[in-house]
Amino acid sequence: MHYFSYRDGELFAEEVALGELARRFGTPLYVYSARTLRRHFRVMTQAFEGADHLVCYAVKALSNLSVLRLFASLGAGFDIVSGGELQRCLRAGAVAEKIVFSGVGKTTEEIAAALKAGILMFNVESRPELELIAAVARQTGRRAPVSIRVNPALDPGTHPHISTGQRDSKFGVPLAQVEECCELARRLDNLVVKGLSIHIGSQITELGPFAEAAARLKELALRLGDRGFSDLQYLDLGGGIGIPYRGEALDPVHYARTVLAELGRLGLTLIFEPGRMLVGNAGVLVTTVIYLKETDVKRFVVVDAAMNDLVRPALYEAYHEIQPVSRRQGPSAEVDVVGPVCESGDFLARGREMVLPQPGDLLAVMGAGAYGFVMASNYNTRPRAAEVLVDGAQAHLVRARETFADLIRSETIVELPTQPA
Ligand code: LLP
Repeated sequence: MHYFSYRDGELFAEEVALGELARRFGTPLYVYSARTLRRHFRVMTQAFEGADHLVCYAVKALSNLSVLRLFASLGAGFDIVSGGELQRCLRAGAVAEKIVFSGVGKTTEEIAAALKAGILMFNVESRPELELIAAVARQTGRRAPVSIRVNPALDPGTHPHISTGQRDSKFGVPLAQVEECCELARRLDNLVVKGLSIHIGSQITELGPFAEAAARLKELALRLGDRGFSDLQYLDLGGGIGIPYRGEALDPVHYARTVLAELGRLGLTLIFEPGRMLVGNAGVLVTTVIYLKETDVKRFVVVDAAMNDLVRPALYEAYHEIQPVSRRQGPSAEVDVVGPVCESGDFLARGREMVLPQPGDLLAVMGAGAYGFVMASNYNTRPRAAEVLVDGAQAHLVRARETFADLIRSETIVELPTQPA
């Protein structure tokens, strides 16, 4: 459910016409709907109403400061994976005690910064990381709250690039080593084992893998209880709830029912790290058609947004619906929607049936809120798009379009002799 809809053939973000935004801010342009963000956050929290829980928004999905501020004001915690994301959260007014820190490669500096900020806990992914956190905590005279991230060795049935819980993945501590890891944490000074966490993958559309993950977490939590880990207070279920890119989706209420059936009566606080589910359908990428190009085998719609703006189609063959910003009558045809970047993988859609747009027409790439702008690059020396946050009839520019000057800001030209010295 989102608040992008047609009025008299014109696509609107809430009360604002996307066409007007494109004229004001140019394209390619990311447009987010605040009402959709609020709604999704409410759906997630209401699904767990009555159960002790904390929703920690996965910052990596869409990390614009205004979006983080909105979630912070709604009471969200945050799941971060870098020192940069920590700084973003703090800048946006997040409560440090609601931040969990995931990721397999936390550095000394990142650990020190997070400890200093007073985050809720580190989701620890290996023994060496545990040892480093203990050492940093010792140096700063603090006790570090940790949660062991479990690799449950199960297949979530999603795209291989976004599966994280199989046996051969780099994420988490293998199930069989978790207890040993907790014992190590107990022996090391300056650590307190506060939780167990798990994140099996992203865009998961079946309940089965979640039920399985929850069951494994429960078993472990009970065993740790038996071993006297009395500080164990949190079970972090990670993210992964799939959204309807093309029909397939998971109902958060069913997700909640499944998780609560396993974990609802343990007396522990449940943490969730949804990213895509909160922001995916809350964003679109607006792009302008530059050319129509026909070869003897194909029709191409060449647009001004490219893989550097939205890499999901190129990287995962992800499907994003594409809608005209102004509906027009006319013949429809099967087209590839492609960008200007010099790679064959630069497409936004392939073999898509649509009413043929004309040069100058605007198209909206739907479901682009999650892993859209945040994965943008400057490849082909293309400035990154602007971001606009719409709330009712108001449109706020929350990130200006990059300029060429931004792109070369940190570069210097060294004058070298034409011949080696
Ligand atoms: N927690 C952890 C530890 C994660 O690694 C992730 C995502 C999340 C939570 C949030 O997962 P979500 O609820 O959004 O599924 N770039 C890919 C997705 C990568 C996901 C990485 N981790 C894509 O565009 O599909």
